[in-house]
Amino acid sequence: MDTIISVRNLRKVYAVGSERVVALNDINLEIGRGQICCVLGTSGSGKSTLLNQLAGLEKPTKGCVYIGKHNISTFSENQLAKFRQRNIGFIFQSYNLMTSNTALENVAMPLMFRGVGLRERNKRAMQMLKEVGLAERAHHRPSQMSGGQQQRVGIARAFVAKPKIVFADEPTGNLDTKTTLEVMEMMVRISRENNQTFILVTHDQYLAQYADRIITLIDGKIVSDVENVSIVDRMNAEEIKAQYMAEKEQTGVKAAEHGKTDGKHVPSEVLSHQPDTGQKDATPKEEPLPADQTEVPTEPVIDDVASQPTSEQTDSPV
Ligand SMILES: Nc1ncnc2c1ncn2[C@@H]1O[C@H](COP(=O)(O)OP(=O)(O)OP(=O)(O)O)[C@@H](O)[C@H]1O
Ligand SMILES: [Mg+2]
Repeated sequence: MDTIISVRNLRKVYAVGSERVVALNDINLEIGRGQICCVLGTSGSGKSTLLNQLAGLEKPTKGCVYIGKHNISTFSENQLAKFRQRNIGFIFQSYNLMTSNTALENVAMPLMFRGVGLRERNKRAMQMLKEVGLAERAHHRPSQMSGGQQQRVGIARAFVAKPKIVFADEPTGNLDTKTTLEVMEMMVRISRENNQTFILVTHDQYLAQYADRIITLIDGKIVSDVENVSIVDRMNAEEIKAQYMAEKEQTGVKAAEHGKTDGKHVPSEVLSHQPDTGQKDATPKEEPLPADQTEVPTEPVIDDVASQPTSEQTDSPV
């Protein structure tokens, strides 16, 4: 396996008053380049905490996370921010689009952070919007789109700069069942087309079946780690999907309908709020960009540093 993420003896403990919450307990893990990997578990099992660790959004209490040759656990906040901009895409449950910007502007944003010029980034953002079937909505703002459309904009934004790794934390949590399946297929398809590593966090055992590999967490520990044939590769995919939809309807667990979460009935600041505990918002905010990030084009660094390691970027003791 061509490993892109390597986790060693990772432990995360939160202090809440005088109590300590062990959110992750001795996690060891290798994830291959291009793998579509699901982190599955019930609420509170540590899924988001693990994702935050893999993405360098939070520091481990013990252990470390390597991405490529980088021990990101040793990076400063500034290094991490730059590293994420160059190598990582995020898809959030609550979309986290910039409410005052159009779909096109939202999708183009990661390219701006990479110093791509206006014309080129608009071209690439438009191509990406086409890929997710939203070219006609390019000039619409999030509040003028349904939840499913907003999440497709979120997907386009996550993939537009071709990051090596895309993380998605309950990306379909606000979507109805039919849209959920469309969005799942879209994310898997795009990841595969570009050989990108895709890491999905979900509590839904069915949605986990879209992955090539399912890692199950209970109480911050990996209790199972199995290979899986993705639904998209199964002969009876349509049958499985129909069954899922029927089950969801029958049990009345149908996720929020369009209209509830489509931005028309909720204040825009609620939509851009990131509700998950401990999950810091890694998407660009509506703040002016520092000049150095707008001017200098930067290349992905995962491969670069493999050939030119520096002591600061590799193998620091934890
Ligand atoms: N910032 C924090 N401070 C204190 N405790 C936290 C923090 N973030 C998470 N926890 C605790 O760590 C444990 C794991 O939380 P985490 O958010 O990773 O769960 P999860 O599997 O993502 O759950 P959900 O499916 O509800 O999102 C929980 O017991 C949670 O209360
Ligand atoms: Mg979570």
